[in-house]
Amino acid sequence: MAVGPTGAVLAFLGVLSVCAASGYGSAAEKEAGGEAEWAEPWDGAVFRPPSALGAVGVTRSCGTPRPGREEAGDLPVLLWWSPGLFPHFPGDSERIECARGACVASRNRRALRDSRTRALLFYGTDFRASDAPLPRLAHQSWALLHEESPLNNFLLSHGPGIRLFNLTSTFSRHSDYPLSLQWLPGTAYLRRPVLPLRERAEWRRRGYAPLLYLQSHCDVPADRDRYVRELMRHIPVDSYGKCLQNRELPTARLQDTATATTEDPELLAFLSRYKFHLALENAICNDYMTEKLWRPMHLGAVPVYRGSPSVRDWMPNNHSVILIDDFESPQKLAEFIDFLDKNDEEYMKYLAYKQPGGITNQFLLDSLKHREWGVNDPLLPNYLNGFECFVCDYELARLDAEKAHAASPGDSPVLEPHIAQPSHMDCPVPTPGFGNVEEIPENDSWKEMWLQDYWQGLDQGEALTAMIHNNETEQRTFWDYLHEIFMKRQHL
Ligand SMILES: *[C@@H]1O[C@H](CO)[C@@H](O)[C@H](O)[C@H]1NC(C)=O
Ligand SMILES: *[C@@H]1O[C@H](CO)[C@@H](O)[C@H](O)[C@H]1NC(C)=O
Ligand SMILES: *[C@@H]1O[C@H](CO)[C@@H](O)[C@H](O)[C@H]1NC(C)=O
Ligand SMILES: *[C@@H]1O[C@H](CO)[C@@H](O)[C@H](O)[C@H]1NC(C)=O
Repeated sequence: MAVGPTGAVLAFLGVLSVCAASGYGSAAEKEAGGEAEWAEPWDGAVFRPPSALGAVGVTRSCGTPRPGREEAGDLPVLLWWSPGLFPHFPGDSERIECARGACVASRNRRALRDSRTRALLFYGTDFRASDAPLPRLAHQSWALLHEESPLNNFLLSHGPGIRLFNLTSTFSRHSDYPLSLQWLPGTAYLRRPVLPLRERAEWRRRGYAPLLYLQSHCDVPADRDRYVRELMRHIPVDSYGKCLQNRELPTARLQDTATATTEDPELLAFLSRYKFHLALENAICNDYMTEKLWRPMHLGAVPVYRGSPSVRDWMPNNHSVILIDDFESPQKLAEFIDFLDKNDEEYMKYLAYKQPGGITNQFLLDSLKHREWGVNDPLLPNYLNGFECFVCDYELARLDAEKAHAASPGDSPVLEPHIAQPSHMDCPVPTPGFGNVEEIPENDSWKEMWLQDYWQGLDQGEALTAMIHNNETEQRTFWDYLHEIFMKRQHL
């Protein structure tokens, strides 16, 4: 499946333009939230946390004048290779000031062969093996920004794909510049007070189901609808999105995704009437957590979650979320939800983290405290500019090390190569949301699309690696290699 530079990139640019033109603030936030995540086709790809993008660049990017030639002459150049993403506006290049010094960020592809061009920056969604800048130059690092799930590019979840890169910024805590909490503005967001339980009980009496489902991106690697469909046989679920829809949102305004965004107060107020929210990510990857998880907690609902297998590590305490995979069957899960639905005291234990001192997970608290980028924080850079500076600082350090080594090889050894690892984009082969892969017919759309996509990602990584390492590179195209690898697999 080929996904071009989609809305995510446009959203980035749109908001960043706002920044460059007029600073940051509520206008930018509104813009970023302008797409309703639950109604759009690319799921996490289009809707960005409005907050993360509301605060852009601040001093180090916004309003910094473009460099003159002499001034920028010696600075390392960071070249954004992805056509859709360049977090500066206007123009093709901009001087950026970072902790260790300055660099020039550029999107001018003519800089590719320039000796000053030290790093190529790629946006994962756009990265295509067939479009990689080859031959690869030894002095250039490749840096990957990919905050999304592999839905947009399975190539990067395979060793041969991710090892093409030196520096990464992904949802994984193991990446060089982690974005695991990109959808969580802070602890105050989690502590937001809850709608009184008696009000929710009233909605239940009026016929609301205990569980809410709101999803309009229906065919995804995590195959979530297959599970939810089964769960619905055992407990009532009110489903308002396009997937498994059985109810309509209460007003025409809310039904119109052009007017009601996911951050719309009226929509949020409506969603908070439900005690449990089904929260299933579009793909299963360690540390990949989105607003599907955090928003219900913000609203005081209990997420019934399937997504990051390591999600427990990030929860405010050890009793704040119901994990689907803890239950041997949808029926058992339904029984448990029914039990909590009828037992207020047990239910409220899941919201204990909202009390003072209730957030006891030190790892979560530390991660929020130490990240240098902000979500909804005008005083901090957003992670896009933060990552750019991370790469700039890394390259400045690498240049210093090279100079030191050239001056005194005995005292200063060469730097070890820094190469990304599969843990930086840790998404195993997709499995069915319910049942066994063998029992699902071959013409099932999930099997046809996502399983194939996954293995094609591996092929592409191997083909690109072969091109980089094979001396016949000049004579052979990416597609030749891909074909060769495909034929080899056919014979296994
Ligand atoms: C959660 O943590 C508390 C206090 O540390 C402990 O007493 C309790 O047994 C834990 N519960 C679970 C389900 O692990
Ligand atoms: C970058 O990664 C490649 C492998 O993908 C490696 O050959 C190269 O040495 C690395 N460069 C640096 C500067 O670490
Ligand atoms: C899949 O194949 C079966 C029989 O081979 C057929 O009955 C069914 O309609 C097909 N389903 C789809 C989605 O094409
Ligand atoms: C590839 O070419 C380089 C020089 O261009 C050479 O040093 C190396 O040995 C060659 N590798 C193979 C596998 O032929």
